[in-house]
Amino acid sequence: MTELTFGARRVSVDDKAMINSRADVNQLLPMKYGWAWQKYLVGCDNHWMPTEVSMQADIALWKSPDGLTEDERLLLKRNLGFFATAESLVANNLVLAVYRQLTNPECRQYLLRQAFEEAVHTHTFQYICESLGLDEGELFNAYREVPSIADKDAWALRYTRNLENPDFATGTFEADQDFLRDLVAFYVVFEGMWFYTGFAQVLSLGRRNKMVGIAEQYQYILRDESIHLNFGIDCINQIRLENPHLWTPRFAEEVRGMLVEACELEVAYARDTMPRGVLGLTAALCEQYMHFITDRRAAQLGLEPVFGERENPFPWLSEAIDLRKEKNFFETRVTDYRSGGALEWD
Ligand SMILES: [Fe+2]
Ligand SMILES: [Fe+2]
Repeated sequence: MTELTFGARRVSVDDKAMINSRADVNQLLPMKYGWAWQKYLVGCDNHWMPTEVSMQADIALWKSPDGLTEDERLLLKRNLGFFATAESLVANNLVLAVYRQLTNPECRQYLLRQAFEEAVHTHTFQYICESLGLDEGELFNAYREVPSIADKDAWALRYTRNLENPDFATGTFEADQDFLRDLVAFYVVFEGMWFYTGFAQVLSLGRRNKMVGIAEQYQYILRDESIHLNFGIDCINQIRLENPHLWTPRFAEEVRGMLVEACELEVAYARDTMPRGVLGLTAALCEQYMHFITDRRAAQLGLEPVFGERENPFPWLSEAIDLRKEKNFFETRVTDYRSGGALEWD
């Protein structure tokens, strides 16, 4: 809405819709989607800043010649290299593509919160880079210089390019499906699948008392991302509920194909980051984990399982989301943020 119409009819709940709504997007109330507002509140309760986490132990370990093995250093550098730009790619898609197309104020309220959280996440990688004295050129160009990272990012960027065109607008069958594809690519694949191998890698180091500052920061990022993912799933399913014609059998099959491709890209990345594996973590375990996660995401979208993987090889990762256990998890400093409570995060 770009023009004010004086005395226009008041917005009622029934006027509100996820996409293609003509109701005034400036009126939060009356609220229609309580799930979006709840996620906004939980996101605010989870506030944190990377600079509150001490990096002293990480700096000492990183600078010590035999603090980490060469394999651990490679894993960490590739992992940080992926996240350093991934957070920006997600943020830009959010602000330049998703925000414009979601025509609902309570969803936009959550998007504004999420956008800030993505800024905090990007800040985290700047802070890590500075603290450890990493080569910033290497870190922030990994997405264009490390093939397994470039392949993932190029795959996702295909889905936002069209939507970032200022002339793009939903309202046709094709454009509405394009928007759904973008939501799947960024919320379900990027934030909901690809980030999770990265969390497993760094939290696995943290469990062995290595790079505990970064591991603590990843724990906070994981908590944020679990809500981003669930918001995305709720958005997709709500749009589908309101526009059942969009979710054709052919489209469902296409979404399944996207999950399979994303899983293959992630397995290639796992092999690239862990050519020999590190203690307790191998590319094969990451592959099993990614199959498990792919099936979980398929189920969340109402699709049949892709791999039939029932066993999560990293059950400890589920515990990392619950910050009330944090004191025991890394035995680092105690933080006093309010927990978002019980979340279905994986
Ligand atoms: Fe993020
Ligand atoms: Fe995110």
